[in-house]
Amino acid sequence: MNILVTGGAGYIGSVLVELLAKRGHSVVVFDNLSTGHRGAVYSSAQLRTGDLADPGEIDRLFSENMFNCVMHLASPSLVEESLRSPEKYYRNGLVCGLNLLSAMVRYGAKRIVFSSSASVYGEPESVPITEEASTHPVNPYGECKLAFERMLHWFKVAHGISYISFRYFNAAGATETHGELHRPETHLIPLVLRTARGQREAVEIFGTDYPTEDGTCVRDYVHVADLAEAHILGMEALISGKSGTFNLGNGNGYSVKEVVTVASEVVGVEIARRTVGRRAGDPARLVASSERARSELGWIPKRTSLREIVESAWNWMKAFPSGYAG
Ligand SMILES: NC(=O)c1ccc[n+]([C@@H]2O[C@H](COP(=O)([O-])OP(=O)(O)OC[C@H]3O[C@@H](n4cnc5c(N)ncnc54)[C@H](O)[C@@H]3O)[C@@H](O)[C@H]2O)c1
Repeated sequence: MNILVTGGAGYIGSVLVELLAKRGHSVVVFDNLSTGHRGAVYSSAQLRTGDLADPGEIDRLFSENMFNCVMHLASPSLVEESLRSPEKYYRNGLVCGLNLLSAMVRYGAKRIVFSSSASVYGEPESVPITEEASTHPVNPYGECKLAFERMLHWFKVAHGISYISFRYFNAAGATETHGELHRPETHLIPLVLRTARGQREAVEIFGTDYPTEDGTCVRDYVHVADLAEAHILGMEALISGKSGTFNLGNGNGYSVKEVVTVASEVVGVEIARRTVGRRAGDPARLVASSERARSELGWIPKRTSLREIVESAWNWMKAFPSGYAG
């Protein structure tokens, strides 16, 4: 298959491109390298630098390639930033997304897999969260993900573009060659591991008085390689005529304290921690039900233990201490 991966130089995108290329697909990565890394793009994939905000650029991309499937991961993804700068998120989520979908309509590209997020749910009414749960995003980041999902629905109705929207929970872990390198980093596991390496003083634990087993927030960490596998299944589902929205989570929740404890064991050092106050808008527990992805797509996450997830992230960090070249 000839596949376009927007955001393929980023964390999840680079792992996805690695998997697609290894499975023999021909991959074009379209990325503005705003948070991605040239060196993260798998060697056999073609990197095309450009911005989805530029319709002319997208037009040229589609006029030169016939894509069997588009995988749309490109997006900034900092919740705090989206609260300070909603315009950036609306522009990226909706204007850029519309540019992409419009080009798909013009050039007859009929399939898209979209990287949505658990943030579409906001504060959950019950856990585990199913796709039927009500959606009340509490920040522009989640709001734009939800709005683009709605756009996908209407482009299917009007133009017959099939879509799979994946609501990822917390992507984590690494393959041997591709891992997580956000700047700034806001995700717990890399922050904990950077603390273990002496790059940070201590892990900040935001609140220890939540109604959870140990008082710290519980999140659903899903291995990035399992996410990548889901995209292949999503593409197969599109080919068989399916569209839909699916949660992608591990199925288990792990608390902040558990993450720090397991990381200390994996690294073999005591990792310093500091308790600070709760952050506004942090629900106690966010855990997905991924039953729909399991039953309808046949997705079985294989790397579900926290130790395995943390170990893979740590191994990647040791192998690439300065990140990617380029
Ligand atoms: N990491 C997570 O835990 C998580 C959870 C839920 C959803 N998501 C979603 O998954 C996707 C990938 O996340 P990630 O963690 O790999 O992020 P990332 O920042 O590592 O990757 C995003 C990539 O998109 C590129 N990009 C951004 N805006 C662009 C534009 N306008 N034109 C072209 N390229 C652009 C960046 O340069 C980067 O390479 C995002 O859409 C994110 O919202 C991530």
